[in-house]
Amino acid sequence: MTVCEFRAGLEGVPVTQSSISFVDGQHGILEYRGIPIYELAEKSTFLETAYLLIWKELPTKEELEAFENEIQYHRRLKYHIRDMMKCFPESGHPMDALQACAAALGLFYSRRALDDPAYIRAAVVRLLAKIPTMVAAFQLMRKGNDPVQPRDDLSYAANFLYMLNEKEPDPLAAKIFEVCLVLHAEHTINASTFSAMVTASTLTDPYAVIASAVGTLAGPLHGGASEEVIEMLDAIGSVENVRPYLDDRLQRKERIMGFGHRVYKVKDPRAIILQGLAEQLFEKFGHDKYYDIATELERAVEEKLGGKGIYPNVDFYSGLVYLKLGIPTDLFTPVFAISRVAGWLAHWKEQLNENRIFRPTQIYTGLHSAPYVAIGDR
Ligand code: ACO
Repeated sequence: MTVCEFRAGLEGVPVTQSSISFVDGQHGILEYRGIPIYELAEKSTFLETAYLLIWKELPTKEELEAFENEIQYHRRLKYHIRDMMKCFPESGHPMDALQACAAALGLFYSRRALDDPAYIRAAVVRLLAKIPTMVAAFQLMRKGNDPVQPRDDLSYAANFLYMLNEKEPDPLAAKIFEVCLVLHAEHTINASTFSAMVTASTLTDPYAVIASAVGTLAGPLHGGASEEVIEMLDAIGSVENVRPYLDDRLQRKERIMGFGHRVYKVKDPRAIILQGLAEQLFEKFGHDKYYDIATELERAVEEKLGGKGIYPNVDFYSGLVYLKLGIPTDLFTPVFAISRVAGWLAHWKEQLNENRIFRPTQIYTGLHSAPYVAIGDR
């Protein structure tokens, strides 16, 4: 049965009913469980936000403490996983390493009991706890160093920066990274979340669900865009070159990375917050040449493409913040994944509650009863 006309990219086609997050793309509104993103960015922490997304309500003080302690306890990696990572080529992309590691967790925690709340909670805790450790470990191992063990006295955000940069982060840097994690945690039915939902709908294990989503997030039209934004700012090189570069790229019908969004037709509210964070970092740690180029590019794109609703998306300013936090460009997307795991897990849990396997239909455009031509006659 076909219920509506074909819409490329499923644009505007509802694929679920969800109470996890809400986006109003015309007015630049994003809410998690009804709470505006700017409130959470200002007042919450990543783990509290993750709890809210996954278990529907803000935790009490005791619930949050218990959750934080569980995460802290599970941060370390089994030595088998570290040994497996040692075999990864150092030239490999960290998103591929992360996808392999997320899937490998399924080998070590293979009991599948999707109707057991204790199993669900353990999977949530393990994934949130171990993914940052995996990302940091891959970064150190590819430099030839041993991974740094997590530190129990540091917050989730500070501990990641510590494991990555091998030194305790400045408190402002840790606070700003915490906000970045809150901002990236969830965003309705984007490509990677949909991928997680489709995988979840087969009732496979949660590690396969997250591995699917990581693979989907890696593409340049999705999470991979932030990496390409920095490459683009590098290629522009100077404020004077912004407009000639833009004209040339548009003439060649190429996309301007970090701009445009399927849902937002105004500036993404997360980009507004991230721009403010970038400014705080520059004020404390020194100006960045990319920032002037980026703001001039934003002005020029708005003049040329604002009429089409093309404005900065979340990826435009996130890279500038990450670079200043000491995060290498090819780790931008894995860092996005560290945060988005919260949203993917919330959708996994929601999918399990009302599950029906995804099985859309197609409009067949091929031949019928075609002859089989023998190989010698083709
Ligand atoms: N640069 C230039 N033109 C653009 C851009 C852009 N970044 N984005 C959209 N357009 C133009 C298109 O050329 C098209 O113009 P036309 O109608 O004259 O042909 C029009 O805007 C609509 O474009 P669509 O491709 O239909 O928009 P869609 O909703 O499919 O695309 C997407 C959304 C993929 C994000 C797109 O804006 C894009 O490619 N942006 C660059 C990559 C990027 O930054 N991705 C990160 C998105 S945020 C995230 O995933 C976390």
